[in-house]
Amino acid sequence: MFDHVNAVPPDPILGIIAAHAADPNPKKIDLGIGVYRDEQGDTPILECVKKAEQILDSTQTTKSYLGPPGVKGFNSAITELIFGKDSAVLSDDRVRTVQTPGGTGALRVGADLIKAVTPDATVWMSDPTWANHYAIFPAAGLKTEIYPYFDGEKSALRFNDMMDALRQRGPDDVVLYHACCHNPCGVSPNPEQWEAITDLAAERGFTPMIDMAYLGFERGIEEDALSVRLFAEKCPELILASSCSKNFAVYRERVGAISVMGKNSEKAANVLTVINSLTRQNYSMPPTHGTGIIDIILHDEELTELWLSEVTGMRNRINGLRKTLVEKIHTAGIEKDFSFLERQSGMFSFLGLSVDQVTRLREEFSIYTVNSARVNIASFNDSNIDYFVGALRKVL
Ligand code: LMR
Repeated sequence: MFDHVNAVPPDPILGIIAAHAADPNPKKIDLGIGVYRDEQGDTPILECVKKAEQILDSTQTTKSYLGPPGVKGFNSAITELIFGKDSAVLSDDRVRTVQTPGGTGALRVGADLIKAVTPDATVWMSDPTWANHYAIFPAAGLKTEIYPYFDGEKSALRFNDMMDALRQRGPDDVVLYHACCHNPCGVSPNPEQWEAITDLAAERGFTPMIDMAYLGFERGIEEDALSVRLFAEKCPELILASSCSKNFAVYRERVGAISVMGKNSEKAANVLTVINSLTRQNYSMPPTHGTGIIDIILHDEELTELWLSEVTGMRNRINGLRKTLVEKIHTAGIEKDFSFLERQSGMFSFLGLSVDQVTRLREEFSIYTVNSARVNIASFNDSNIDYFVGALRKVL
């Protein structure tokens, strides 16, 4: 059975972890995978998570199955957090949420759902999009296409081109958006642009699918939820894949959720039965340690406050690093304009380097980025930023 099997190339993002780990250079920098890092280069467990985990440990009495929905308190709390406690769609009972193994799990469940209910649908993805999007939707048997999004020359959103392309879409299409902190380019629509995008979705009748992996990392929880709330207000249906990996820093616990919004409560409930049958065939029931922790945090006022302050801390650090990087690049006499870094948000931005320059960074300086020159801004700190800027100056 395996005689004819050849090795497949490593995932472009995950391959960097291994390459960086094997590099003996003490000055090496991993600007690859999207994990938050503090000034020491660590990815710490949040205080709110440590406290909630202790509560969970001391109160949990069984590890027996919880059934397909997993931790129901997590499902409702994350739904309220994202859609807004007082939103009309929640009071009309039009949303159903179930936890999934991470945001990727949510995306895959969402893709399987689309395939199950509209097998001929085409999923439209921004150009560019997260590397794994290109794999997940075809793996579910779906057709995919791309719509214009990022202008590499200007390091900005191609808003008009995007709108022109989406104006051609209709009810057989699903359009995938990044709710905030676009991965990989860091460029997001502003609130007025989100109004126009969501108006267009309602007018054209395509289904919005939203990937929300960085809630709280752009401007704040309420602000970053705007895109989802506008779609919910204006469109009859939507699919949302959310992740708690980054904003609760529970990466390895695999905490995500799939939410569907239907035209009414009954339609949403029907879709949930499809989701439950799809997950049963796939992983049967979700892991509940991470969601148990977040359930505790979001149902405790003090822990929620602590969490909000910790998210704010992570967001402010990343934004501060963006500013510092632009200043240091300028001070180093680099002619190329990197001021766009400050106008972008979230963990990622493209540096606009060629593959040759990326290779030189890796081979001559042990600085690791994906070939697209996407960098994780959170990986910079006082001890490595000057080394990086020096290397950047040399390869430019
Ligand atoms: C990233 O883009 O680096 C993150 O979303 C982590 C991953 O799994 O790729």
